[in-house]
Amino acid sequence: MLVDAIERVVISAEDVARRVRELGEQISKDYRDGAKKDPKKRPLLVVGILKGAMPFMADLMRAIDILMEYDFMAVSSYGNGTSPGEVRILKDLDCAIGRRDVLIVEDIVDTGHTLQHILAGLSARGPASLRVCTLLDKPHRREVDVRVDYVGFVLPENLFVVGYGLDYAELYRNLPFVGVLKPEFVRER
Ligand code: IMP
Ligand code: MG
Repeated sequence: MLVDAIERVVISAEDVARRVRELGEQISKDYRDGAKKDPKKRPLLVVGILKGAMPFMADLMRAIDILMEYDFMAVSSYGNGTSPGEVRILKDLDCAIGRRDVLIVEDIVDTGHTLQHILAGLSARGPASLRVCTLLDKPHRREVDVRVDYVGFVLPENLFVVGYGLDYAELYRNLPFVGVLKPEFVRER
């Protein structure tokens, strides 16, 4: 079974679900207030960053109780941490974001390089607002200063986790919880 590769569950499926509901309520409240001030405003655009954010995004959007649209971007970082800052856009947004409220949804913010690149690219297109929601945050690993507005859970810096969208070598994304792999399932990187 897939779970046999897991040494320890860090965040259970139940805890993920509870936190996703809370984040959805907070996001709905924040953007609902903004819509009241400007009734002509276009609906919130939620942008999921592929591939990792897919399960989180799918659950989070169903916990958001306001008008919204969603779209996806796919990015890849070169190397294995040796060349930070080299982030490539594999798939861009389908829609324009000028004067729109945009909420980026990420699986995890680690060094911050990926997010910094995405933020720089999107803010140049003139959105009305640009915020970030991440399921997981490793603030102590940060190499660049990026603002994260909504955080699901903070992780200790030395923990490498898989599941609920997060991968090790593209595997284990389909686990319904967030956990740590047994050492024998981790090849030398
Ligand atoms: P960055 O260092 O903030 O640019 O994060 C780059 C990417 O590293 C994330 O989008 C994840 O794909 C990956 N990553 C960072 N920490 C973890 C982890 O603990 N598990 C799985 N992927 C991770
Ligand atoms: Mg990854």
